[in-house]
Amino acid sequence: MAPTSASAAQAARAAELRRLLNHAAHAYYVLDAPVMEDPVYDRLYRELLELEAAHPELHSPDSPTQRVGGAPAESFSSVEHRIPLLSLDNAFSLDELEAWYGRLLKVLDRTPQAGEPLPQLAMVGELKIDGNALALSYEHGVLVRAATRGDGERGEEITANVRTIQSVPLRLQLEHPPAWVEVRGEALIPDGTFAAINAERAARGEALFANPRNACAGTLRQLDPKVVAARRLDFFAYTLHLPDDGESSGVANGGDPARPTSQWESLQWLQAAGFKVNPNAELLPSLAAVEAFFARWEDERKTLDYATDGVVVKLDDLRLQADAGFTQKAPRWAIALKYAAEEAPSKLLRLACQVGRTGVVTPVAEFEPVPLAGTTVSRATLHNADRLAELDLHAGDTIVVRKAGEIIPEVVRVLPELRPAGAVPLQLPQVCPECGSELVREQGEAATRCVNSSCPAILRGSLRHWVSKGALDVDGLGVKLIEQLVEKGLVGSIADLYRLDGALLASLERMGARSAENLVGALAASKAQPWHRQLYGLGIHHVGEVNAKALAQTFPSAAELASAAADTPERITAVFGIGEQIVQSLQQWFATPANQRLLEQLEALGFSLALSTAERQVAAGASGPAGDGAAALQGQTFVLTGTLPSLSRRQAQDMIEAAGGKVTGSVSKKTSYVVAGAEAGSKLAKAESLGVAVLDEAGLLQLLAQGS
Ligand code: IVH
Repeated sequence: MAPTSASAAQAARAAELRRLLNHAAHAYYVLDAPVMEDPVYDRLYRELLELEAAHPELHSPDSPTQRVGGAPAESFSSVEHRIPLLSLDNAFSLDELEAWYGRLLKVLDRTPQAGEPLPQLAMVGELKIDGNALALSYEHGVLVRAATRGDGERGEEITANVRTIQSVPLRLQLEHPPAWVEVRGEALIPDGTFAAINAERAARGEALFANPRNACAGTLRQLDPKVVAARRLDFFAYTLHLPDDGESSGVANGGDPARPTSQWESLQWLQAAGFKVNPNAELLPSLAAVEAFFARWEDERKTLDYATDGVVVKLDDLRLQADAGFTQKAPRWAIALKYAAEEAPSKLLRLACQVGRTGVVTPVAEFEPVPLAGTTVSRATLHNADRLAELDLHAGDTIVVRKAGEIIPEVVRVLPELRPAGAVPLQLPQVCPECGSELVREQGEAATRCVNSSCPAILRGSLRHWVSKGALDVDGLGVKLIEQLVEKGLVGSIADLYRLDGALLASLERMGARSAENLVGALAASKAQPWHRQLYGLGIHHVGEVNAKALAQTFPSAAELASAAADTPERITAVFGIGEQIVQSLQQWFATPANQRLLEQLEALGFSLALSTAERQVAAGASGPAGDGAAALQGQTFVLTGTLPSLSRRQAQDMIEAAGGKVTGSVSKKTSYVVAGAEAGSKLAKAESLGVAVLDEAGLLQLLAQGS
């Protein structure tokens, strides 16, 4: 049937259908609250399609039929952004956030005088969605142009593609839309959709997308809008640009929202106009609230079905935003506070094997360096032979490496799609890479071990552990030096370290007289380390820092611990947190002649291998009649900042913990005391602003003395 011109009734029906269908799509895609059954929607949609086909003049850019997209484009045209799309400065820690806040106060001329509290400006916390920024222009309420960010000045015009995103309104839900408005936000592909897309691609033998963000970027640049429609993108709006007041006649009429004066009101305006606004944004009254928001979403973001890599913090008041202004590339009034990246791909270079101080052989992947969780990593553990087999690692594989916070990096999986042809599978060696003796794997044990007790790797591991931070904490005895000492046969046990003389040390590679002398001094000083550190330093299997502390309090000397292990093991298991396995390991260790010899030698060298008098007093308080002696600081939390005049951080922490207190890294209202030394920074400022008590070293010692 040839197109005819539409009657007034047909035109009205088409308009009504557009309104109904747009309303239903908004309810479904934006509000997640459907108002219409699918078949009903389909019938009305078809009716509109037919009307438009019969009467081409009824076509309208805000018709839902415009979402599916027309013919593929040959290329995209480049368009200039009316207002440049800037990026955001990043902060990678709360200290950096606080520094940003300090700079913001400074440009706003609100830096507090000494002693005054930090002014608190309201801010909006939003999730930083890991998608692709879009700029959408609406004229008289109708979507007329959508562009990618591009270089910030010019982007690509991808209107036909963006029309396919159901949560982008084709017409604003305003009675009196402004003549022009630009809305910005993030396009994304939800994780579930991403998995489905990759599964389809795998089935068709096509290359897989590395992650949802790449898939989204690739999709937005698809020339065929039908492909885009099939990929089911989503969009969260977060920025609103209205014309200056003079141009905005018509805004805030009837039921329309008033012109926003803050970011928070902008988000409400966007929502009222029909956009999907991320529901997790919050209006935050203070910097402390921002920090709590950031902390909460660190874990909670993992429950979302889209990727977020941080939070965006925006000064709420638009007038203050204007006062703060911009740097070359970013607004001063906003910052992206990023979570440390936890997973990244890299290319395997080599399978190495590490022999630890207990003889356990750990396969280690060495790969091309990647930045991860705040550091650059190039090695990651593969745990054991079983894990190695499970990963099915081949030479030259591309691997995915994870490092979450403090956790040692590990290889989580291999990407077999990227495996070079003919690559050989990798396995643990049969013999110890250090001493050549045959490796042993006991039935039912995950670990493969070198059981040669004079294996140099085991000795090196024991020495490294002895001098490590949590143990005897000896400065200046690094891995390379230990290697030399063992290799040259200068050190055959922990005790031998204390017999090294300065002249000999000074003759070693990369050692001068000065560093040799310092090392001899540091070793001598380490003899005064407390008993629990000595115990931990011995490297007894299963006796970590926490267990060593618990054991050292109950068994005030090596002799008493050894005799309990041999004769009254029930006294050991009575210690909180100590189990059978640890008892067995203690029994074995103390029964081994080489270890008995080591203890004798250490004692002869001046080690107490026992609690000091002061420690005995604290311990006595702990179990004394009052019962809560060691709990003098029970329930109290401390934050240490700056350099104390005589105590190291570690020592101060040990003393606080011995008295039942807790030491944490960040200041909050719940912090009991901040102990501040020289050059204390933002933590001190924060304590002052929150009214948290501040102590110096003398104050801390006094507090501890009162408790004991
Ligand atoms: S506001 C001038 N808010 O992060 C301020 N950006 O690293 C413009 N992003 O280009 C950005 N979530 O693509 C803002 N809630 C959010 C965001 C967000 C993700 C992206 C955006 C921007 C990039 C900057």
